[in-house]
Amino acid sequence: MIRAELTQAETLFEHLQVQNRQPRHVGRLVSHDAGMLEVTGFRRPIGSGARVLASDGSVCRAEVVGFRGERTLLVPLDADAPLENGIRVEPDSQANMVQVGEGLIGRVIDAMGQPLDRKGPIIAGGVWPLNGVKGNVLDRGRVTEPFDLGVRAVNALLTAGRGQRIAIIAGSGVGKSVLMGQMIAGAEADIVVTGLIGERGREVSDFLETKLKHAMHKSIVVAVPADHPPVLRLRAAARATAIAEYFRARGKKVLLLIDSLTRCAHAQREIGLALGEPPAMKGYPPSALALIPRLVERAGVDARTGGSITALYTVLADGDDTDDPIVDAARAIVDGHFVLSRSLSEQAIFPAIDIGKSLSRVMADVVPDEHRQAAAAYRRLWAAYEENRDLILMGAYRPGNDPVIDEAVQRRQEILNFIRQDQKSRIDLDTSANALIAEFGA
Ligand SMILES: Nc1ncnc2c1ncn2[C@@H]1O[C@H](COP(=O)(O)OP(=O)(O)OP(=O)(O)O)[C@@H](O)[C@H]1O
Ligand SMILES: [Mg+2]
Repeated sequence: MIRAELTQAETLFEHLQVQNRQPRHVGRLVSHDAGMLEVTGFRRPIGSGARVLASDGSVCRAEVVGFRGERTLLVPLDADAPLENGIRVEPDSQANMVQVGEGLIGRVIDAMGQPLDRKGPIIAGGVWPLNGVKGNVLDRGRVTEPFDLGVRAVNALLTAGRGQRIAIIAGSGVGKSVLMGQMIAGAEADIVVTGLIGERGREVSDFLETKLKHAMHKSIVVAVPADHPPVLRLRAAARATAIAEYFRARGKKVLLLIDSLTRCAHAQREIGLALGEPPAMKGYPPSALALIPRLVERAGVDARTGGSITALYTVLADGDDTDDPIVDAARAIVDGHFVLSRSLSEQAIFPAIDIGKSLSRVMADVVPDEHRQAAAAYRRLWAAYEENRDLILMGAYRPGNDPVIDEAVQRRQEILNFIRQDQKSRIDLDTSANALIAEFGA
């Protein structure tokens, strides 16, 4: 009891910064240029928080993003703060701590942790560092158990593992959000944390109403629409990840969804370019690409608590642009990628997962041999059709030349029907695997 009170008291004092014996740094705002604030007399490390006190009494929060000689560069976190020359800038020690706890479940918050759902204040209870706790790499457990995502094509052909990180790569409007909703409803997770980053404002309420409705009792949503400053978009992704980490540390099976990782990288690109970083890869400065592993590496299994974060990141790839640097950077770091194909969605085959281009790198570790062999047989048929598609469609392929192609042609509809699933239905792992073995097993 006393311990709890002590901790509470410490939290209060921390806010007052009494244990910080150094003099308090109070800076002055001297320049505001392209969304970048320059402050003198404010020596704080990159990433730390600040409060800019306007003369009308309002407070604008800001974050240190760099420095130039004696001047510290900050970006404001509040979009339309009344900034003037010479106003005070103070450190904000709480800026990099995220409110976490059971009180968040069922709630929708913004990048700063403020409720958006008009359900009153949030009593969270705990705090967690925004950018996570640096741990020993060996605390990261292996992915050894399957994770049911409730979608037949995924469960059977791209089986996910508990603690796996997956990229969903697709162009716009081919069904990413619907698939994510289906997985949220179908996943066997204790807690689902969703970061809606850079979506159109209308889509946020649509997502809550249609995709999250039946999972809200175990969900937490962090939402930042596209019209918010880039730092807020980055913070929202970091906050969603921090909340997921908190629950993982309590031994929970967490499902984390970030929609979209591309828009996070775009936010970092805006900041990087404003700081004068060179655009190295197709307009992306190095920091934008470095952001991806930094975020993705925070998900996974925690070997100490047995908790896990299974994470899904959507990545935009327009016009089948597979050499987009964000797609490359994401694909290189995740443990699996699902590619959604426009041609399947145009044929009204949903979820439009292109099995041939998709891969779950942990599948072999988490499914029995019989299942793995049936999946390999399915893939062989899929690839045989795709590789000879033009010949087959032109009628240039003569049946009898190759038994695998013959079978692929004959069973084409069966193969496509196996992916097809109504967006409202859930098909669990065992049912999916058994169906696959029954149809395509040896
Ligand atoms: N499983 C499904 N069953 C039927 N229709 C679907 C399914 N999935 C997607 N669709 C159709 O595709 C449309 C676009 O889907 P969705 O909004 O999920 O795409 P998106 O990739 O998230 O798009 P954006 O890039 O705009 O975010 C839906 O409005 C719906 O008509
Ligand atoms: Mg979408």
